[in-house]
Amino acid sequence: MSEPNYVVIAASLRGERMGRVLADWAATRTPAPAELIDLAETTLPDDNLLQPGGGQATELTDRLARADAFVLVTPEYNHSYPAGLKRAIDWHYREWMFKPATILSYGVQGGLLAAEHLRGVLAELHMVTTRRVVGLTTPWYDLGPDGYAPPDSVTKGFDLALGELAWWTETLRTARRDRPYAR
Ligand SMILES: Cc1cc2nc3c(=O)[nH]c(=O)nc-3n(C[C@H](O)[C@H](O)[C@H](O)COP(=O)(O)O)c2cc1C
Repeated sequence: MSEPNYVVIAASLRGERMGRVLADWAATRTPAPAELIDLAETTLPDDNLLQPGGGQATELTDRLARADAFVLVTPEYNHSYPAGLKRAIDWHYREWMFKPATILSYGVQGGLLAAEHLRGVLAELHMVTTRRVVGLTTPWYDLGPDGYAPPDSVTKGFDLALGELAWWTETLRTARRDRPYAR
């Protein structure tokens, strides 16, 4: 099989967001080259057009459809993940299905409440999340001249999560090709 397509999604829409630098770092660690989707640079249709199962094609539809695996880089806002990420999820449907994801969350205390909320939503889309997810606590203190410069323990933990993601990526790619689920 060809190299899998990894897609890193930066979830924050804020102008002065921390998320982009973390997503850029995450994209340097994926087992194969990753495409970055920055939701702050994405315009989705108005939600009054939303339908069950998504709706009209968006500027992300083809990019998500091509993906074999996702790395979701999300902050925690009020103990969950941001509304912009939920909109991106809701505007698509088959593009997510039967694909794996890992989550890199961040916040004052690691953002793991965001990660756990996200897992339940992704399960509804027949997605699998890695057992390990990494939560970055106050990553803004680990910024260097070249971007995010985490302690080794963070890099090791994230690489373990990506190792799980790689296993699921190959497993689900094969399953989608050879034994597509009757949905
Ligand atoms: C609306 C809002 C709500 C927040 N709520 C939380 C929270 O519940 N837990 C937390 O650890 N940090 C919280 N924070 C702090 C964020 O973790 C921090 O601002 C982070 O930089 C946000 O990511 P971003 O810069 O990529 O948007 C919140 C920030 C915002 C803007």
